[in-house]
Amino acid sequence: MIVITSPGEMNAWSQSARRREKRIGFVPTMGCLHRGHLSLIDVARSHGKCDTAVMSVFVNPLQFAPNEDFDKYPRQWELDKKLAEDAGVDVVFHPSSEDMYSANAKTFVEVADLSSVMCGITRPTHFRGVTTVVAKLLHIVSPQVTVFGQKDAQQCFIIRRMVQDLMMETEIIMAPIIREIDGLAMSSRNAYLSAGERGQAVCLSQSLEVAKKMINAGEKRSAVILEAMRTYIQRNPLAKIDYITVVNTETLQETPEVLQNTLIALAVYFGKTRLIDNIIL
Ligand code: PAF
Repeated sequence: MIVITSPGEMNAWSQSARRREKRIGFVPTMGCLHRGHLSLIDVARSHGKCDTAVMSVFVNPLQFAPNEDFDKYPRQWELDKKLAEDAGVDVVFHPSSEDMYSANAKTFVEVADLSSVMCGITRPTHFRGVTTVVAKLLHIVSPQVTVFGQKDAQQCFIIRRMVQDLMMETEIIMAPIIREIDGLAMSSRNAYLSAGERGQAVCLSQSLEVAKKMINAGEKRSAVILEAMRTYIQRNPLAKIDYITVVNTETLQETPEVLQNTLIALAVYFGKTRLIDNIIL
């Protein structure tokens, strides 16, 4: 496995791989790798039919607001390198903030509307940071396929729209959520949870199961489903709901009924830790 830190070298490597007719699958991450991230490499190879896997490990300062956890975001570079190598990654791109952002950078990429709903309400500058860095990474790595996890479904829909609007050439694949045995969606932020919070955090995935059961039994009304989910989560005293919503996957606007192309998504705080989860119907 090769480690590249310079954007110029990464781009030169990709251009040379493309000249050799390699199909590059790209998995952007902020490191602190877990099974969820590593499964994205398999998806790039199987579903994306890629013969070359590039992963970026970069904790992007631009997507954290000043009051958020950029400084304390978990970092484990040596372990990440080993995990990536064992997962069959060919190249890890690990730039510094200075490599990615010049001090006088003035350019941002923003997907209007989709970025200001759901997680964008509590984190108003977050998706602008994500789309700016992902646009840069796609430009540098130049992959045919890029894989994101469904856990960050809003992020994935926003990036799909950016790629479409900016006529970028990569195919965006959304890979299934990987869960712990009890159903909690894998996330680097799970490490912040106390034992008590971890015990109650399973209510996110369980509330989505409640929704699924209601829908399978014929319930379509979003308000009724949301109320049942809210009641379920509120039984857990450490859980503070940020939002639960039923939206259309194209527009991310709320829908009164659960139809096809519907996303049920939620964000819940445990202390300062904010966890997200979702299902797509
Ligand atoms: O999902 C993440 O880990 C990040 O938002 C991403 C896509 C790597 C951009 O920094």
